[in-house]
Amino acid sequence: GPVQLWGGRFASGPAEAMAALSASTHFDWRLARHDIAGSRAHARVLRSAGLLTEEELAGLLAALDRLESDVVSGTFTPTVADEDVHTALERGLLERAGSDLGGKLRAGRSRNDQVATQMRMWLRDAARGVARGTLAVVDALTAQAERHPDAVLPGRTHLQHAQPVLLAHHLLAHAQALLRDVDRLRDWDRRTDESPYGSGALAGSSLDLDPDAVAAELGFARAVDNSIDGVASRDFAAEFAFAVAMLGVNLSRIAEEVIIWNTAEFGYVTLDDAWATGSSIMPQKKNPDVAELARGKAGRLIGNLSGLLATLKAQTLAYNRDLQEDKEPLFDSVEQLELLLPAIAGMIDTVAFHTERMAELAPAGFTLATDIAEWLVRQGVAFRRAHEISGECVRVAERNGVGLAELTDEELGAIDPRLTPDVREVLTVAGSIASRDARGGTAPTRVAEQLDGVRRRSAGA
Ligand code: ARG
Repeated sequence: GPVQLWGGRFASGPAEAMAALSASTHFDWRLARHDIAGSRAHARVLRSAGLLTEEELAGLLAALDRLESDVVSGTFTPTVADEDVHTALERGLLERAGSDLGGKLRAGRSRNDQVATQMRMWLRDAARGVARGTLAVVDALTAQAERHPDAVLPGRTHLQHAQPVLLAHHLLAHAQALLRDVDRLRDWDRRTDESPYGSGALAGSSLDLDPDAVAAELGFARAVDNSIDGVASRDFAAEFAFAVAMLGVNLSRIAEEVIIWNTAEFGYVTLDDAWATGSSIMPQKKNPDVAELARGKAGRLIGNLSGLLATLKAQTLAYNRDLQEDKEPLFDSVEQLELLLPAIAGMIDTVAFHTERMAELAPAGFTLATDIAEWLVRQGVAFRRAHEISGECVRVAERNGVGLAELTDEELGAIDPRLTPDVREVLTVAGSIASRDARGGTAPTRVAEQLDGVRRRSAGA
């Protein structure tokens, strides 16, 4: 019959609707192998504490091995009567080890410390996968930057033409943000490197079990310092949800640009057929669905973070069943990123840039006006006045319907005598870009440095 972990005190089993509300195996079954790993470690500390004989330990470990292979092969699965993954696996153990031996394993542990430990384990594995997927996107960005060392485009603020920049500079800016997302996951991992196992329900165990030994076996640096905190805290979960939501937001900023660049009006890019979709009615359509799904998934990841924070808010210490609601948003965020990251990497890696179109637009909208002002500053003019002079150049050029470089020597001299024809050295896109040559700037030598830095961080990372 069904295993009820609290049989003694109850005269009847749960009502059907109670059991349906309570059940979590349809999502927490993902933790099955982590639960079994925890059971092995727990069996060993029970042995060290003298609560199992060597023979009993061997019997439990053999039963856990059989249970694990049955879980992996799918011959053992949870039933509707199993409340959660922990209960289901206890049933599986009792079926394999017999209830006398199997019934010994539960001493000194609680599902509260089990689940808190297993969520950390699952998320730490997931974080490594998300980081790998993110680095593949960084690699796609750096590959495009490398393929286009000279391509230029109008850099924008307020979506308006601002100053010309190298395409590689722009792509590597996205790479920087993604490398910080990876850093954030690593930093989170260091804080999450503590095992709650041994906290029991909340107060710790009287059975002389060694939490640090369990921690070490499960791949943690140490056990938590406080058993109440061990079962009550989920800031590791919320922080993870933030780190991946931020990643989603950074991906959606790339995606939004790809969507705009892909319009007929911009005409900067053509998406590869493998990373675009068609329309069921309009034969000419080639849609940027990867980018749009990235934008959409970002909303979902933000929702998962907000929902989780709302779940945690105002929960008293220590464990409350509300905490079971931490799982679905976290599993969902990871699963969405596992779908999204390879597609974003593929889309970026294969997109064709129309560099002549971007080059043609780079000086449009008077993007070289700042170059005139900064050239005047180098001639000793105060920036306040230089800004005005350059502004007058824009006004005259706009009135005459020409670009700044097309102003005649006479027109320049009439605006201000200090505007000699020498100013023309910065009135080209290449001259403007080459002049921004301090660290971090858009000059080709500096962008080559940045490319190097990103490559090194993503490889050493
Ligand atoms: N399934 C629960 C969770 O995910 C763990 C079980 C603890 N249940 C309990 N009634 N104390 O958080």
